[in-house]
Amino acid sequence: MTGSRTARNRARYGVDGPAPLAVLILATAGLGAGAAVALAARRRVGRLLLVGALFEGFRAGTYLYATVRGKLMVWGREVDALNLTGTEQVLDLGCGRGAVLLTVARRLTTGKVIGLDSWRAKDQSGNTEAAARHNADVENLTDRIDLVTGDMCALPFDDASFDVVVSSLAVHNIPSADDRGTALVEALRVLRPGGRLLLADAMHVDAYADMLRRSGAQDVAVRPLGWRVWYGGPWFGLSMVTARKP
Ligand SMILES: C[S@@+](CC[C@H](N)C(=O)[O-])C[C@H]1O[C@@H](n2cnc3c(N)ncnc32)[C@H](O)[C@@H]1O
Repeated sequence: MTGSRTARNRARYGVDGPAPLAVLILATAGLGAGAAVALAARRRVGRLLLVGALFEGFRAGTYLYATVRGKLMVWGREVDALNLTGTEQVLDLGCGRGAVLLTVARRLTTGKVIGLDSWRAKDQSGNTEAAARHNADVENLTDRIDLVTGDMCALPFDDASFDVVVSSLAVHNIPSADDRGTALVEALRVLRPGGRLLLADAMHVDAYADMLRRSGAQDVAVRPLGWRVWYGGPWFGLSMVTARKP
């Protein structure tokens, strides 16, 4: 096929947190059906159900947009703002199927981006190392990436190995605050002096910033990333934590 890609040959990044998204879609459908029946029967509760369906539809719509498109747009902007030379060594913590990994890889020439993940299916649909590798293949980026199976809390890399560490919606999946702190200390450990950390998440971002400051990171800041990455509404939007290793 010329000029276009077949479905098999297109990068597909799945959806983040497939179970919560399914609940939102089912709630929208259920409330919508209930509203239709009640309104047809001229029951007052129909209006209430309609409002509920619109609300759940808004939550499902923003979530779907954020995970399928918004995340890619926002990370493209964030990685552009790093002004990479193209020669950097970059680490993506919890890379999943490679949405951010490949956003970085596209901006490298002789550099490399390593994606580390434990490939948990409940955190992203179809989440496997093979899916990430397939996406790199179809984007012709295989020579600019490496994939490593591992745990963010115990990184299998030497100190000061990376110019940049990125992570998208991954650290909050670590259940305990102590272990999330360990992951951040590990991220700082593998950064070179002057190296930059970019960590997007929807939860715990102020705690991440505090922990990074306590661990000696400089220029630590937190900022919201805007409506494109509202995973269900403004109350569950991504923020970016940035820091620099002294
Ligand atoms: C919501 S997905 C996000 C994936 C990717 N960063 C993206 O934005 O498309 C979270 C990822 O974190 C990974 N993950 C969760 N806990 C991890 C851990 N302790 N070590 C490594 N990866 C982990 C999951 O396997 C999953 O791929």
